[in-house]
Amino acid sequence: MPCRFERVFAAAPFVPCGTVRTVTDPTIAPRLPAPPVPLRTARLELRHVTTDDLDALRYYTDPEVCRYLPFPAADEAALVKRVAMMAERLAPSEPDEVLSLAVVHDGTLVGDVILRLGKRADPSTAPSVAEIGWAFAPSAAGKGFATEAATALVTLAFDHYPVHRLVAHLDPRNTRSAALCERLGMTKEAHLRRDWPEADGTWTDDAIYGLLREEWPPG
Ligand SMILES: CC(C)(COP(=O)(O)OP(=O)(O)OC[C@H]1O[C@@H](n2cnc3c(N)ncnc32)[C@H](O)[C@@H]1OP(=O)(O)O)[C@@H](O)C(=O)NCCC(=O)NCCS
Repeated sequence: MPCRFERVFAAAPFVPCGTVRTVTDPTIAPRLPAPPVPLRTARLELRHVTTDDLDALRYYTDPEVCRYLPFPAADEAALVKRVAMMAERLAPSEPDEVLSLAVVHDGTLVGDVILRLGKRADPSTAPSVAEIGWAFAPSAAGKGFATEAATALVTLAFDHYPVHRLVAHLDPRNTRSAALCERLGMTKEAHLRRDWPEADGTWTDDAIYGLLREEWPPG
C-alpha cells in the first residue's frame, strides 16, 4: 500500500513549501457538488445519517456485525463518536472523504452504506476510484435490503462522481459480503494473504472486488 500512495504523490505537481493554494488555483480540483440525497428505491430510502439515529445504529455494538469490520464492536462512547462522524459524511470530494447513508425501510433504519473516495491522477482532478461498504442490522438480514441499497449506491457513484472504478475490500471469510459483491456484478480481483492489519497485532487476508464503470449496470 505505501508504494501505491507514493506513486500518487510522485505524480503531484511540485509546489514550493509555504505556497498558499486555494480552490481558484488551477492545480487544485474544485470541490464536487453534494450528492442528490435522499435516494429512493422500490423498498428503501437512503438518506444522510443524523445524530438522532444513535439507537438505530446500535448494531455497531454487536460483535457479530463487527466481526469483519476494520474496527471493534463499539461501546457507548465509541458509538456516540461513530454516529457523530457518520452524520458529518455528507458531501465527499477529496481522497479519503466519505459519504455515509442510512438505509431506511418503512421508517426503520435497517443498515448503512458508505462511499469513500480514493485515488486521483493528480490534485487538479477529482478522485477516479472509490471504495464501497455496508453494514446491516441482523434483524434486517436475508431480505435483499443490502443488495438493493448497494445497487442504489453504485448507481449514485457512477452517475454523480467521475469515478471509473469501485472497489470493495473484505475478509474472505465474510461470505455474505462476498455474495453481495457478486450480486452487484463485481469481479474478485485479488486475494491478498495476511495483508490486513488487525487491532490485536495479527494480519488477516484481504479480498478485493472491483467494478468498472463500463460494467454497470450488469448485463
Ligand atoms: C454483508 C451484509 C450486508 C450482507 O447482508 P445480506 O442479508 O446477506 O444481504 P441482502 O440484504 O442483500 O440479502 C440477501 C439475501 O436475501 C434474499 N432475498 C430475500 N428477498 C430478496 C429480495 N427481494 N431481493 C433480493 N434478495 C432477497 C436473497 O436471496 C439472499 O438470500 P441468501 O443469503 O440466502 O442467499 C450483512 O451480512 C452485514 O451487514 N454483515 C455485517 C457487516 C459486514 O460484515 N459488512 C461488510 C464488511 S466488508
